[in-house]
Amino acid sequence: MIRRLAAITGIQGFVPETILSNTELEKMVDTTDDWITTRTGIKERRILKEPGKAASDMGKIMVEKLLQKTNTHPDDIELVIFATVTGDMVFPDTANIVCDKVGIKNAFAFDVRAACSGFLFALTTGAKFIESGTHKKVIVIGCDMMSSIIDYTDRATCIIFGDGGGAVLLEPREDGSGIIDSVFHGDGSGAKYLHMKAGGSLRPPSLETIANKEHFVYQEGKAVFKSAINGMVDTVKKLLERNQLTLNDIKWLVPHQANIRIIHGVADALDFELSKVMINIEKYGNTTSGTIPLCLWEWESKLKKGDNIVLTAFGGGFTWGSTYLKWAY
Ligand code: UT7
Repeated sequence: MIRRLAAITGIQGFVPETILSNTELEKMVDTTDDWITTRTGIKERRILKEPGKAASDMGKIMVEKLLQKTNTHPDDIELVIFATVTGDMVFPDTANIVCDKVGIKNAFAFDVRAACSGFLFALTTGAKFIESGTHKKVIVIGCDMMSSIIDYTDRATCIIFGDGGGAVLLEPREDGSGIIDSVFHGDGSGAKYLHMKAGGSLRPPSLETIANKEHFVYQEGKAVFKSAINGMVDTVKKLLERNQLTLNDIKWLVPHQANIRIIHGVADALDFELSKVMINIEKYGNTTSGTIPLCLWEWESKLKKGDNIVLTAFGGGFTWGSTYLKWAY
């Protein structure tokens, strides 16, 4: 019997129009285009600048286009999962706001907050509802508005992050295509290296937290760097072994786009050809939950039914892992 899998049957990305280039950042903080390019691989990133716009507005645009593209009626969507650490508000979940903005009325919806691993965790969560047979049409969004939590006077973080992401439609398939397996991990002891100090129940917003700039991303980059390479490499290896695959069986590796040196480090450690690694960090920087769907969206026309694809991510938490899927169209 062929197992019922959840397959990605459509993908739609979105990035805001405003470009923040390295040259512009040179005017804002003590940095250079050369430093940013050589240390991160980023040349520019997109910023959602329009006043009053937030993560749900990016989600709305991508979901509307996704529904149109896949010829799906909003009434047929049963579940929406939004992976983000920059939801519109602390609550309600942004997935609910997106449903309201798009006119999705028959779905339940919630957010997943697993930082840069958010899209992978949400994708597998959504897939389980389809595999179990209870749901037939699920939308998973990975999108962040990192500009809302970045201190543009801090050169160590403001050069890295950008806004944007993508949304996928998941539907059941019984032809072998779909999300096959995932290896995921978490380690809360990594929280000290990458977090936002205030705004939660530990340190609610106050004049003091604002004065101390505690509502911005705090990152100890070097500590994250090494763990990121090790975590992604380890889970890709486990995933391949568990599914009896060799690297030659993999058509595309889609790594979280945090730093070009991390991406190269992962490819080197796996001995995986760079020409088969999706890389667009130079244009968008690190969009947190958004990087992997943004890659898949940009590569969509090159993907073929049956392609074996491995997605891999590492981020705040620490959270990390890899997902193996067979492209469905
Ligand atoms: O996506 C979630 C997970 N996050 C990651 O995976 C990020 C992982 N970390 C990184 O990508 C890198 O650690 C960074 C890009 C954040 C930083 O690169 P690095 O090579 O680790 O630099 P560093 O922090 O060790 O800093 C090296 C030097 C320092 O100067 P000194 O102390 O050697 O004099 C920094 O002050 O570079 C300096 N520096 C900069 N110089 C120019 C830091 N940021 C900048 C900057 N421009 N923007």
